[in-house]
Amino acid sequence: MAAVDYECQDDVAVLWVDNPPVNALSHAVREGLVKGIEQAEADPAAKAVVIAARGRTFMAGADIREFGQPPKEPFLPDVVERIEACSKPVVAAIHGTALGGGLEIAMGCHYRVAVASARLGLPEVTLGLIPGAEGTQRLPRLVGVEAALEMIVTGQPVPADKAAALGLVDRVVEDPLVDQAVAFTRTLLAAGKAPRRTRDLPVKTDHLPADFFDRFRARMHKRIRGQFAPEQAIAAVKAAIELPFAEGVKRERELFMQCMAHPQSAALRHAFFAEREVAKIPDLPADVRPREIARVGVVGGGTMGSGIATACIKAGLSVTMVERDEDAAAAGLARVHGFLEHDFKKGRIDEAELSARKECFQVSTDYAALSQADLIIEAVFENMDVKKDVFRRLDTVAKPGAILATNTSYLNIDEIASVTGRPADVLGLHFFSPAHIMRLLEIVRAAKTADDVLATALAFAKRIKKVGVVARVCHGFIGNRMLSGYIRQAGFLLLEGVPHDRIDKAIYDFGFPMGPFQMGDLAGLDIGYLLRQQRQPDPEEAPAFRVHDRLVEAGAKGQKTGKGFYIYGESAPKPNPMVAEFVREEAAKAGIARREVSDEEIIARCVLPLINEGARILEEGIAIRASDIDVVWLYGYGFPRWRGGPMYYADSLGLDHVLDRIRHYGALLGPRFWTPAPLLEKLVAAGESFRDYDRRKKAAG
Ligand SMILES: NC(=O)c1ccc[n+]([C@@H]2O[C@H](COP(=O)([O-])OP(=O)(O)OC[C@H]3O[C@@H](n4cnc5c(N)ncnc54)[C@H](O)[C@@H]3O)[C@@H](O)[C@H]2O)c1
Repeated sequence: MAAVDYECQDDVAVLWVDNPPVNALSHAVREGLVKGIEQAEADPAAKAVVIAARGRTFMAGADIREFGQPPKEPFLPDVVERIEACSKPVVAAIHGTALGGGLEIAMGCHYRVAVASARLGLPEVTLGLIPGAEGTQRLPRLVGVEAALEMIVTGQPVPADKAAALGLVDRVVEDPLVDQAVAFTRTLLAAGKAPRRTRDLPVKTDHLPADFFDRFRARMHKRIRGQFAPEQAIAAVKAAIELPFAEGVKRERELFMQCMAHPQSAALRHAFFAEREVAKIPDLPADVRPREIARVGVVGGGTMGSGIATACIKAGLSVTMVERDEDAAAAGLARVHGFLEHDFKKGRIDEAELSARKECFQVSTDYAALSQADLIIEAVFENMDVKKDVFRRLDTVAKPGAILATNTSYLNIDEIASVTGRPADVLGLHFFSPAHIMRLLEIVRAAKTADDVLATALAFAKRIKKVGVVARVCHGFIGNRMLSGYIRQAGFLLLEGVPHDRIDKAIYDFGFPMGPFQMGDLAGLDIGYLLRQQRQPDPEEAPAFRVHDRLVEAGAKGQKTGKGFYIYGESAPKPNPMVAEFVREEAAKAGIARREVSDEEIIARCVLPLINEGARILEEGIAIRASDIDVVWLYGYGFPRWRGGPMYYADSLGLDHVLDRIRHYGALLGPRFWTPAPLLEKLVAAGESFRDYDRRKKAAG
């Protein structure tokens, strides 16, 4: 089977691209397109050409299977140029997605039609790249500088109607697409239209303010800070304004090659592949079948329960929430309705969809209401006795085969499962707050969790559009277990005299969305406080959290009380002056002296413990792969994606350097929190990286 079929429908040649699953622009497709155009040009019957794709989508971009291999001719820019140079009008017929190279092909065509559900975009920045097949030069010619810049720098695709309004699509058509595209082509022929080459269109700059690019950068600051590719994209669009087409193309190529060679692109590609790898569970039999999930029960309608319910409802599942009394049930209902209405107010759903979603949701105070649920997710208080009581009750009401999940952050799931008569049906589904927004879902496989229960959880994660990462049971699983070392060091830095807003700023500048104290204020300082109250205090660790505890005791629990480490009001949050006073007192009590600390040390002190604990988690088999740990941190904690995740970041620093720094801080601060993980030492001794470790494990099956 050819990757591109040629068919002549009377006077219009149709080139059918056929490269399942997403018609990626593999070598065979590129070659087929050039041959197809040449055949059409030589075919006296063909007066014009339509380029269309079979299957579920138009060409959706480069072929990732060819990533990292030496490129083979014809290269994509040559293919685009060959299409554009065709002497007969060429029309792209777009359905599904035209992304990256797919859209660059479409822009090489002389006209474009699309079905209403199609989406078009240049998402290369998400891989640390810019469009490399002349897309940065053609898009501004079609949609103007402002819209082109927005699309290229954000990487966000636009729907067909918006693309039509921008001038990227000439006509939005109904199905059957190719018939409509051929009909449209005939109207062009009838009107005597010649090829309209995008390269020949002017770039309109009439309404562009002089400070346009500066203003754009300022507006995008949060999104693009620290990143290399967005700046390159801006430079490429500038080239489209300032240079003739052929020169602009050369400039694009230079900028593209710089992106390719930049470590950020390698990190972003790692993140992309890590996310694809995450659902592969080596010891899960290939023939295991997930259980059917249609009805979900949620126990507890607080912060997490309401978010979890919302995520399920939005995925089309029917949800029953159980709360402990009428007031709490009403509050849970109101919270979920609030989230659903938010989507309506934002124009993401219409009124009919809003009421359909509300109809999928009910609340009750009676556990019997959960008797038909296929999956029940518990999100009550973080307390072992309360959780056990809930699971005993679930065991009596849930139907046989129902999956019982807990959203616990830290507790031992084996212990929770043990109070039921069906521990094989129990596992952890650890969502992140806000649960209807955050993409991460830790799937915690308990000692007795059945294979099909795990498979169901993986399918469920996908269904509710989460990235499911499998972990084993331990205190805090993957993410929170690592987090504790990070927060602890931030607490010690505070006592060593570093102002908390300086620590937050250093972490923000490293690329996190916020620093540890801002995060504490957002989550609520009382959460950690209550957890510490339930545990035996650890005398070596306790000082790191004394300031947190004193804030809570003074009623400053974070954003929800208007103050915590910061004071919140109308204007930007300001550091709470109470903090400095508590720091002085607590540092004196703990005998911790003030030190000069560099920003570099702030980063090292907070990030090295992540890596060290990550290595332990890996060696203990809590996480399957180092790259899974990266995914947890990218999606659960906002670790800067362009650094690839903590384990990839460690590799990029060099594990010998990481080990050296951990030993350095061990000598400076004592061994208690700075003892190198045995796996880290072993990898350094073997001259290996975490990626080598993953590869070796994969090869071993
Ligand atoms: N808040 C977070 O950031 C976060 C993140 C991940 C996981 N978690 C975990 O999720 C769970 C819930 O946390 P939360 O922040 O939503 O707490 P929350 O206090 O906001 O909500 C808990 C809800 O459970 C209800 N509840 C208590 N006992 C019940 C019972 N026996 N039957 C029915 N309902 C009952 C309460 O009325 C309350 O509405 C905890 O285990 C927590 O560790 C929290």
